[in-house]
Amino acid sequence: MKIHILGSAAGGGFPQWNCNCHNCAEVRRGNPSMQPRTQSSIAVSGDGERWILINASPDIGAQLAAFPAAQPAGDSVRGTGIHAVMLVDSQIDHTAGLLTLREHGRLRLYTTRSVHEDLTTGFPVIPMLEHYCGVDWREVAADDDAFQVDGVPELAFTAVPLTGKAPPYSPGRHAPRTGDNIGVLIHERSSGRQAFYAPGLGALDAGLIRRMADVDCLMVDGTFWREDEMLTTGTGSKHAADMGHLPLSGPDGLIAVLQRLPRPQKYLVHINNTNPVLDERSPEAEMLRRAGITAARDGMSLDV
Ligand code: MLT
Ligand code: MN
Ligand code: ZN
Repeated sequence: MKIHILGSAAGGGFPQWNCNCHNCAEVRRGNPSMQPRTQSSIAVSGDGERWILINASPDIGAQLAAFPAAQPAGDSVRGTGIHAVMLVDSQIDHTAGLLTLREHGRLRLYTTRSVHEDLTTGFPVIPMLEHYCGVDWREVAADDDAFQVDGVPELAFTAVPLTGKAPPYSPGRHAPRTGDNIGVLIHERSSGRQAFYAPGLGALDAGLIRRMADVDCLMVDGTFWREDEMLTTGTGSKHAADMGHLPLSGPDGLIAVLQRLPRPQKYLVHINNTNPVLDERSPEAEMLRRAGITAARDGMSLDV
């Protein structure tokens, strides 16, 4: 299967428009050891022609402009390789781009029931889109059963329920529902190859680690290096756990877990602008490289 990293940054992007933290100030200055990044989204395809967008970020306009497969093929007046959209949650950084897709034909949209609830109430983008392209909503059950996207027989998907956070506007923020946050397991049926995409991962358990150990390619939550990163960088008052993100460092951090998995290729996605790994010359970036983990960059194409 082919995976295209459309956006590798967390909410806000890198640099974030109103942020003057060390990283944002430096990347804005053109520091060559840092690469700007847009907000969190990938596209996946079995045949290289029909692509499933996983998440629709506020930066989708620039992302699709840089991704020829999303653009009209041949002489067609209108067209796109974007065949369907799947969402891992209803956070703004994963959903605001749906508004930009209003020029699409009828949109096949795969989400869990709780995400659908948020997108028809607190952020009613689905009923809004009914007045533009229209939406064919397909419920994704967060129950470990593989499902297929209509018209894409090459790939099977499994929604893995994760511990995370619903967005601040959602009733799920304080009363969590199964399906508020999922990871997506992507399985190519001809080759048996598997990838797992989880840009928001708040906790790990033995079952999830076993499942991650089995795949060929991991693209996982690289939001924060430290639990208190927003506080120490002066950018906010929330801890990583308040936001549903497991930090990378520390004995129980994500790096320690990933290091123990010999099989998969490992990429960080959803990297927050405060994260020191964004500076390729930082000691943290060096630790990441030594652990065999790559901080994903926008525009990366992965052949899994
Ligand atoms: C998150 O991942 O915690 C959210 O997307 C943050 C945000 O965009 O407000
Ligand atoms: Mn986010
Ligand atoms: Zn910043």
